[in-house]
Amino acid sequence: MSNSKRLDYVLVHAGIGSRKTVKGLVRKSDVLVNGVRVRDSSTHVKFGDTISVDGEEIEFKEFYYFMMNKPPGVVSATTDPREKTVLDLLSESDQKKSVFPVGRLDKDTEGLIFLTTDGKLAHTLLSPNNFKIKSYIAQVSSEISKADIAFFRKGIILDDGYKTAPARLEIIEDNPHKCSIDLTEGKFHQIKRMFEAIGKEVIKLKRLSIDSLNLDESLLPGEYRELTEEEIVKLRGIE
Ligand code: URA
Repeated sequence: MSNSKRLDYVLVHAGIGSRKTVKGLVRKSDVLVNGVRVRDSSTHVKFGDTISVDGEEIEFKEFYYFMMNKPPGVVSATTDPREKTVLDLLSESDQKKSVFPVGRLDKDTEGLIFLTTDGKLAHTLLSPNNFKIKSYIAQVSSEISKADIAFFRKGIILDDGYKTAPARLEIIEDNPHKCSIDLTEGKFHQIKRMFEAIGKEVIKLKRLSIDSLNLDESLLPGEYRELTEEEIVKLRGIE
């Protein structure tokens, strides 16, 4: 992404309005770039420029980063013809920022969804070659044995013949049968299918972390917040 953008692009993505609205606004209103009145919406602005519309400063960030506590019953796609998506839970102005969910959770799975516009980071987190750990807690239908832990560690053959990469399974409590699972890959329904292969059913599933990013437990289901600078730096690693 180049580090300069047209003013109308920036204002649209900051949630100010449609391209048409924004054009009119720049002509008629008090739009300042670094304190100077601008009338032409094709003017280029850079990250770090101070932009205000009628005295209100607007955000111009290279990338946006959010974490959400996904509730059950919502799909983690960008669009869906029938179902409510995680993007529908964003405010109107955040919806205009064009973030997308990094990886998927099933409709009935809860917990951490990371949303961003940073495609490079998304790719790094999702690529199985990078061994980025995603952690979950699950409630399952019957007792977890030491043999189950070993199966997860060695890799399990799924219903389609795929052998999973080594995963960590740990018992949290025994009745209800709760456990934690760490995966480095994200096949379709992976945890449910891994348990199915050892004769158990997943009753409840929640994601707690993706690499260094931990779900903020103060977020109620359906709530989200921007990542802190510290969380962003840690997740992106040393560049
Ligand atoms: N594994 C699953 O089975 N479902 C999820 O939503 C995530 C991991």
